[in-house]
Amino acid sequence: MKKVLILLVAAALLASPAFGAVRNSKHDLSSSSTGASIKSDNVDEVCVFCHTPHAGITGKLAPLWNRTAASTTLNATDLYNSVTLEAGSKPSAVSTEVNNSDAPLCLSCHDGASLAGGLANPPASNGNNQPTFTGTDTVTGDADIMDGTAALTNDHPIGMDYSVVDGTDNGGASFQDESGTAPNLKVGSLPLYGTNGVMWCSTCHDVHNEGAGQPFLNISNAGSALCTTCHVK
Ligand code: HEC
Ligand code: HEC
Ligand code: HEC
Ligand code: HEC
Repeated sequence: MKKVLILLVAAALLASPAFGAVRNSKHDLSSSSTGASIKSDNVDEVCVFCHTPHAGITGKLAPLWNRTAASTTLNATDLYNSVTLEAGSKPSAVSTEVNNSDAPLCLSCHDGASLAGGLANPPASNGNNQPTFTGTDTVTGDADIMDGTAALTNDHPIGMDYSVVDGTDNGGASFQDESGTAPNLKVGSLPLYGTNGVMWCSTCHDVHNEGAGQPFLNISNAGSALCTTCHVK
């Protein structure tokens, strides 16, 4: 009886994205996903839309990456800019870092282009055929981070070395200190990347964890707690 109960509890945990799983979240594009409105009609695997156990694309900032379209090149003019940005955060200073970050991986889906096809290694469970979609197969509206041609100009900056901006910046804004040593640099509990602690999309987001009422955030933003982890405001 105990075993049955444990199994039932385990099954309930697995079934609910509120407990932080990618299964049945908006990032579960499998045909049996209960959480996504954009989902495949012929592939019933979850991870395969981003990872593959074999023949993955190397050199990307997520392991065993499976999406071939992850090569968008962003120029300085595609990035957020303002007069109060610290020099080390200016688009001209960070464009290489942004291209070397996880942003191109996210944008391989969040750019409004069709999600059909595009896997380096389509799954054997689908006869090694590419996924197809019935109905919507594009990320549109707010979730289309590229907004057509606006790219990332109207989005929170990424690509800056956090150690350059923590302390007091040119605009008078100040920041919480980063902690730890590479590869475990953090600000609060938020991860920073590379040897210098660079901010990426995954500093704020966790692709595998939709959370309750949170758009895949690493921590809840209730009371703007995510923002004040970095900004002393
Ligand atoms: C929507 C795309 C997407 C899906 C679906 C996805 N992942 Fe990931 N995964 C990523 C990205 C992006 C990263 C890099 C995240 C980072 O840098 O923190 C990653 C990192 C990882 C890592 C290494 C870092 C870590 O968090 O442990 C593992 C292991 C992993 N994924 C396993 C899985 C498995 C297993 C599944 C299916 C159950 C899955 N992923 C589904 C995008 C995805
Ligand atoms: C395999 C394609 C794919 C990849 C790769 C991917 N996403 Fe998504 N993502 C989606 C889809 C599809 C949705 C659901 C959009 C909708 O329902 O309109 C989504 C939704 C989201 C949402 C929630 C949007 C909402 O309205 O609640 C966030 C946040 C998000 N993704 C962040 C990321 C980040 C950050 C990365 C990279 C680390 C990433 N995604 C990589 C396909 C992807
Ligand atoms: C500074 C933290 C931060 C960074 C960096 C960040 N995001 Fe977000 N993102 C958020 C928050 C907070 C929300 C929820 C916004 C809301 O409620 O409107 C969000 C929402 C989203 C959504 C849902 C659509 C929307 O606008 O509500 C998507 C998709 C998304 N982010 C993708 C990305 C991608 C891709 C990157 C990297 C290019 C990125 N984010 C970088 C904090 C961040
Ligand atoms: C991981 C740390 C981190 C988090 C989390 C974060 N920010 Fe930032 N934010 C930064 C850094 C670093 C800059 C670049 C500042 C600079 O160079 O002057 C920045 C820039 C900005 C700017 C532009 C400043 C300017 O001078 O143009 C605004 C506005 C902003 N953040 C608001 C937010 C809000 C709102 C949130 C929560 C949704 C948030 N940030 C979350 C680190 C963070």
